[in-house]
Amino acid sequence: MFGIKKKQEKKTKITADDSLRHIAFIMDGNGRWAKGKGMPREFGHKKGAETMKNIVKYCGSININCVTVYAFSTENWKRPENEVNAIMELLGQYIDYLYTVMEKDNIQVHFLGDKSRFTPELRARLERAESDSSKYSKILNVALNYGGRDEIVHAVNKLIEQGKENITEADIEANLYTSHCPPPDLIVRTAGEIRTSNFLLWQGAYSELYFTDVLWPDFSESDVDKAVEAFYRRTRRFGAVV
Ligand code: FPP
Repeated sequence: MFGIKKKQEKKTKITADDSLRHIAFIMDGNGRWAKGKGMPREFGHKKGAETMKNIVKYCGSININCVTVYAFSTENWKRPENEVNAIMELLGQYIDYLYTVMEKDNIQVHFLGDKSRFTPELRARLERAESDSSKYSKILNVALNYGGRDEIVHAVNKLIEQGKENITEADIEANLYTSHCPPPDLIVRTAGEIRTSNFLLWQGAYSELYFTDVLWPDFSESDVDKAVEAFYRRTRRFGAVV
């Protein structure tokens, strides 16, 4: 069970245990949040990026050692050019931000997805941030130009290149973008849509799913607590009888 630790006189703080090692977020609702404020969609992404920083930090503070965020899908290139450009600019700013926190917050960053679609400069920055943070231990996966089907095809092609025959589940797993971390125990999607949209297709086979109507820019620490509490009320059977 998870613990509720007294932190201050009145405040209680949730801490995760080994049954919740990895939490993943489908950060949805930036556009609707901005629209509700009469602002352009880019404004929602900007606030969404701030929320992402806070939520990643908070998850680390409650002992969740692996966090994955779905920041840009293989399908998101279909969005208007100015929106794609705004997200790419936020990505650049986010890399700079990572350098200010990686040591303090002990963050080892991985960018999941096909990096070949990015400019050589951006790709080099992504790879440098991965290697510069490799000495830290809390895993942060940022899914970028990521699609679950694309990831499986990519893994199979790598196995073909290696001359593998009789491919096993372990072979596929070892060639996914997430080979460095356990599968997500909990996948959270904000903004009221009840689907997983090609996110962690293989890894999410036994993940607990949690959906909330809260729009990503409004998603707060207490919303993480609610998702974690819901997770601990579930009984995970992994196909067996418990
Ligand atoms: C979904 O909201 C959100 C995205 C497709 C992008 C997520 C991006 C961020 C949180 C900020 C960018 C951060 C980095 C580091 C790149 P939506 O636009 O689909 O919202 P809607 O469904 O309300 O239109």
